[in-house]
Amino acid sequence: MEVREALTTRRSIRAFLDTPVPREVICEILEAARWSPSWGNTQPWELAVVGGETWRRLAAALVERFARKVPPAPDVPMPETFPDEYRSRYLACAAGLFGTMGIAREDRERRWAHLLNMTRAYGAPVVIYVLFREDLPVPYTMFDLGAITHAITLAAHARGLGTCIEAQLAHYPDLVRQHLGLDPSHRLVVGIALGYADPHAPANAFRTSREPLDTFVRFVDL
Ligand SMILES: Cc1cc2nc3c(=O)[nH]c(=O)nc-3n(C[C@H](O)[C@H](O)[C@H](O)COP(=O)(O)O)c2cc1C
Repeated sequence: MEVREALTTRRSIRAFLDTPVPREVICEILEAARWSPSWGNTQPWELAVVGGETWRRLAAALVERFARKVPPAPDVPMPETFPDEYRSRYLACAAGLFGTMGIAREDRERRWAHLLNMTRAYGAPVVIYVLFREDLPVPYTMFDLGAITHAITLAAHARGLGTCIEAQLAHYPDLVRQHLGLDPSHRLVVGIALGYADPHAPANAFRTSREPLDTFVRFVDL
């Protein structure tokens, strides 16, 4: 798949088949993604790839805690508000997704079910946790982690797999550290749900839009 095609046809996948993803396929994706750029080639990322029984147990623990409405305690603070212009895009994205899924605005029960499903990575058989060490400088480390995260999604897409980057999977880092046997110095940013997309799920028909160039690009002397 051409880079341009991968960039423009990748989309978040929010319903996965049970089909397992062989470890060789995951390695192939990560072998490509590790060539991502980073500050001074520091490569500040670490990844924890979890599947099988461990993921089932972790997913159950995450869902159980979320269902009790325990406030999230992420390692990297998550945005609570956005300036109006950005907030309206965020709201349009949520409305578009729920619209495609046939979930009405007032249907609290199905919205809640969607959040629980998000907490279990939409049924993905594999989750790739994106981590960094606590002694790294956060702002530019986030930049570099973003680069490899996008690369993973593109490499997976080119290999016929679907992904969804999820901050939701990083709400309770203590549970993730405990189930994955991670060191307390490991900090979590996102989890990437990975698997084969369910082609019949309405959620996977949803496509977000993008702003045209003239709204965010300033050409100077060109
Ligand atoms: C840092 C980050 C966190 C995200 N967290 C979630 C999440 O918790 N749940 C979810 O369904 N999608 C999540 N997404 C996916 C975005 O909603 C999605 O990328 C965006 O709407 C654009 O849609 P697209 O990926 O289909 O192009 C996240 C994306 C990023 C980059």
